[in-house]
Amino acid sequence: MKIKFLKSNIFKPQFLLILLVVVFSSCEDPTPKPNNNKEPKTTKVEPTDSHSYANIDVIRTKHLHLEMDVNFENQTIYGIARHQMVNKGTKIAIFDVKNLAIQKVTLGETEEVETTYVLGENDSLLGQPLSVTVDSNTTFVNIYYQTTDKCEALDWLEPKLTSGKKHPFLYSQGQAILTRSWIPVQGTPSNRITYSADVKVPIELMAVMSATNPRELDSLGEYHFEMKQAIPCYLIALAVGDLRYVDLNENCGVYAEPEMIDACAKEFEDLPTMKLTAEKLFGKYQWEQYDVIVLPDSFPFGGMENPRLTFANPTLITGDKSLVSVIAHELAHSWSGNLVTNSDWDDFWLNEGFTVYIENRIMEELEGKEISDMLSLIEFQELESEMEVISAGAHPEDTKLKLSLDGRSPDDGMTSVAYVKGAYFLKTLEKRVGRANFDVFLKRYFREFAFQTITTEQFEKFLNERLLNPMRIRFNTKEWLYEEGLPKNCVKIESKRFDMIQQYVDLVVDGKNIFKRNYVDGKKLQVKSRDQFITQEWLAFIRALPDSLPLQTYRNLDARMNFKNCGNAEIMFEWYMKNIDAGNDKVYPQMKRFLTKVGRRKFVEPLFEKLNETEVNHAWANRHYADIRDNYHFVTRNTVDGILKFKPMVKAGSK
Ligand code: BES
Ligand code: ZN
Repeated sequence: MKIKFLKSNIFKPQFLLILLVVVFSSCEDPTPKPNNNKEPKTTKVEPTDSHSYANIDVIRTKHLHLEMDVNFENQTIYGIARHQMVNKGTKIAIFDVKNLAIQKVTLGETEEVETTYVLGENDSLLGQPLSVTVDSNTTFVNIYYQTTDKCEALDWLEPKLTSGKKHPFLYSQGQAILTRSWIPVQGTPSNRITYSADVKVPIELMAVMSATNPRELDSLGEYHFEMKQAIPCYLIALAVGDLRYVDLNENCGVYAEPEMIDACAKEFEDLPTMKLTAEKLFGKYQWEQYDVIVLPDSFPFGGMENPRLTFANPTLITGDKSLVSVIAHELAHSWSGNLVTNSDWDDFWLNEGFTVYIENRIMEELEGKEISDMLSLIEFQELESEMEVISAGAHPEDTKLKLSLDGRSPDDGMTSVAYVKGAYFLKTLEKRVGRANFDVFLKRYFREFAFQTITTEQFEKFLNERLLNPMRIRFNTKEWLYEEGLPKNCVKIESKRFDMIQQYVDLVVDGKNIFKRNYVDGKKLQVKSRDQFITQEWLAFIRALPDSLPLQTYRNLDARMNFKNCGNAEIMFEWYMKNIDAGNDKVYPQMKRFLTKVGRRKFVEPLFEKLNETEVNHAWANRHYADIRDNYHFVTRNTVDGILKFKPMVKAGSK
């Protein structure tokens, strides 16, 4: 009788719960350490990603099914993350979570049984390990949770921050390690998963993801998504808003708010050609559909390569297609990054360096070498100045391609070193082995490592075995990958058009009026309108102006060219940077408008950094930042808070 009593109770979930809690709490320290803990481990092989707690070496998610209710009233997602796992016989499954409220965790596919879990200590960067008790044969773990107001991935926008100003908007940004703040995941790029989702949103809004997508509103606000190709979890993405779709061909199109959709479709009308060009160079596009969604102004990046659906910044919509190379970049990630993925964030250059290289090759095909060289030179100028800053700073080792970001934010690796030094490494290799050979090698690289993750060391080996050794070519690969600075054999790009721009700059420096006829070496130089030069030429022009010119010179240039208010964010940004240095406060009202509207970190961060350099400017920045801070996504807000050492006042209802 006694035994029977015990038996019947032991299978009751409550009893199991108590038992497991007792077992757990009797362990010495159930909190897994982040994987940068270098202590020798005897029982378990530690995964190498220092930015994840997950124990993917013994249990890993294979497929994730999400059930999400998106509630705009309290800006919360109520979710269930159903992980289908490959279990090598472990009793604990560790997930990454950050600022999530966990309600319960169950095991099982059809019949769910509640299990115990422990949330470890919160690390301000990595969040918490969520250690779930499983059986050695468990393959389904279901985590019931909700997001909180400290969620870092999600940007909940009030209607006033959208184009239409009538409906709210929501989008996510997962890269690098923010997915764990809206979904409990194993947050390392070295694990690839397929995913599906059932998402419920208010009936007047459409939901789209980095997956199969709807093209029309669902009358019940219920959407189903499938991502059948395995991806790293930083590529799971969601956007919800008043959206329209326009197709550019049968497998390529654009989403945007209704007010923007026509302009967006026009700006990106060459996308199908771009895709064909990329396929010709690097092999078949593996994701079936390629769409772009243009998000509201707060989106912190120029673009984000969410598979099947690039997220794009509205600053790309200039009306003249002058910034479409950003879309070429995000499309290029369909090969470098999404198909072949960096193993962890120390290998970030494998994502971005390759992508900048491919972006440039696409632009060369589409626009010709003269233009693609200018694009590439503009980036090289950025690399040179950023390398100088990094070399003089606390982490000169950040000028290496292979990084070591243990204990630091992966964001620290997001510099032009990964992007531009990475791309110039590949350009230099290409020059050394010849384009035809290099193209064969690249196609093979994407074929061989498709749907896998890769480290710098693996790439090095592949490069030696498949390209350099067979061709008996000696190349300073190690110097490029593992040493600081820029190797001497780096290719040099020249541009006649930039040389001519320099002549205009020289005229300005000599006090000449470039809007009138000037003759240099018998050649007539005169600026008649802004259309005379492409965006990159104007950027080169503005950058080359010395800060020391008389104030009136800047004001005259602006009076004629209206840089400060020209509508092209790249030019406006460059102009504000120059004018802060030059002390021309006439641009400040427009700069404030720009900083209020545009949340793209590439612009916002350097402007605040520059403003921070003098006391007067710092005071100006601080005064205005308090008003505009709430317009920004966490990524940008967090960066600017750090620059200004801004301590927000806690006001009710603020983010
Ligand atoms: N994948 C990046 C954006 C990113 C990197 C987000 C790291 C979070 C962490 C994206 O592809 C990118 O590089 N965007 C650039 C565009 C570009 C043309 C260099 C940007 O946003 O400016
Ligand atoms: Zn990129």
